[in-house]
Amino acid sequence: MNVIILAAGKGTRMKSSLPKVLHQIGGKALISHVIESVIALKPTKIYLIVGTQKKEIENEVSSFEKNDLITFVEQKSALGTGHAVKIAAPHLSQSQNTLILFGDVPLINVSSLKKLCKKESNPVFKLMTAIVSDPSGYGRIVRNENDLIERCVEEKDSNSEEKKINEINTGIMFISTEKIKSWVKKINNDNSQKEYYLLDIIPFAKKDSIPIQPIVVEDSREILGVNTLAQKSKMERIFQYKMAEKFADKGLEIADLNRFDVRGELVFENDVKIDVGCIFVGNVFIGKGTTIEPYCVIKDSSIANGSQIKAFTNIENSIVGTNTIIGPYSRLRLNSTVGDNCKIGNFVETKNIDIKEYSKASHLSYLGDAKIGKRVNIGAGTITCNYDGNYKHQTIIEDDAFIGSNTELIAPVKVKKGATVGAGTTLSADAQKKSLTISRNEQISIPNWQRDKKEEK
Ligand code: UD1
Ligand code: CA
Repeated sequence: MNVIILAAGKGTRMKSSLPKVLHQIGGKALISHVIESVIALKPTKIYLIVGTQKKEIENEVSSFEKNDLITFVEQKSALGTGHAVKIAAPHLSQSQNTLILFGDVPLINVSSLKKLCKKESNPVFKLMTAIVSDPSGYGRIVRNENDLIERCVEEKDSNSEEKKINEINTGIMFISTEKIKSWVKKINNDNSQKEYYLLDIIPFAKKDSIPIQPIVVEDSREILGVNTLAQKSKMERIFQYKMAEKFADKGLEIADLNRFDVRGELVFENDVKIDVGCIFVGNVFIGKGTTIEPYCVIKDSSIANGSQIKAFTNIENSIVGTNTIIGPYSRLRLNSTVGDNCKIGNFVETKNIDIKEYSKASHLSYLGDAKIGKRVNIGAGTITCNYDGNYKHQTIIEDDAFIGSNTELIAPVKVKKGATVGAGTTLSADAQKKSLTISRNEQISIPNWQRDKKEEK
């Protein structure tokens, strides 16, 4: 089949500088949701109608594997959905029927599209409609006494009786290419918005005695459109809830289906528990038996089996091993690799580190650009001073080292195997194997010390 996706509208109601179809649901642009569903139908060609925002949309779409299927068709001024299809029409191959979709109706299921595109009559005109509890904003489907589709009336052109109709136009149709080519030429813009409405082809279909077959979609959540930011955020919740339900059915233990967000791809094994308010962004993997406590944000990272990510932890571009405890309030970022049986505690930030098994940094530290061995203990308040104002330098801490609290490691510097660094040390040269290195002044005590008194006025 040919596919047309309409995405040239100005999106004025969004009150946003980002093109409407590039707004995201579940971390993916509206237009990409539509294209993905369409690609699953194996179309011969996809014509994407774009307007002034062509560049940005092209950019988004270029990441698709099958982007060679897509042809951009420019609609220089958005004169209406009928006008958009009129511009695409000359490109369409007449030997195939045409599926038309709107770029701002992203949740449509592949199975519903397959049902729509099953050809039952020739020439075909199948229109997807939906029964909704709140039809406001949508075009209403007017049926005649024989229950056949008579016309579609847009909200702005409707009278009070028509406004009560709760069967709406989804914008999605499967239609004879030959017919649509001739009908769209005849549409006028004689309406309140001075726009060319696509469904004004209905009278021409009737004239040509082509029956319109309505396909009423079963789950009206699929065909919601995004015109405003409020609609977008309502749709986001619907999308997330459905996804949470699907994951729960596959064995993910989610504390509250309403407080769970995935903006990308989440892969998980059995016995994973996710508490409320967690957000998973990009590609995230969670291994068997791992627990994620409330309000964690995990982005493009992998967490192996049996680990515990405690509340309010932020993990980005990092790898966590098995049986490791992270958090509460930890921040792992940019290539942090934490081994098995480790502990990264509260208010510890890591960046570009590799820390091996059984090592711990339990409290209040910054560990950046460091290689840390096995069974290392990093005391509270340890800082790797990795930046000299111009360049970043590496800290190496070998196996079995012990770093006392409140230590500054001035990189490049090395703490060798089994070394102990005394608390409060500013380490500016390597700490030798198995030795104690300490840079503190010796403690003195002055008896009967009188502090200065405040002058009385
Ligand atoms: C449209 C339908 C309405 C339907 C609703 C479903 C028309 C006139 N109205 O209303 O019956 O219930 O969708 O969500 O068809 N677009 C273009 N070029 C244009 C105008 C629009 O490509 O000149 C694109 C938009 O980018 C958008 C889609 O067509 O993706 C729909 O346009 P929009 O303005 O959002 O129409 P609605 O008012 O939602
Ligand atoms: Ca719309």
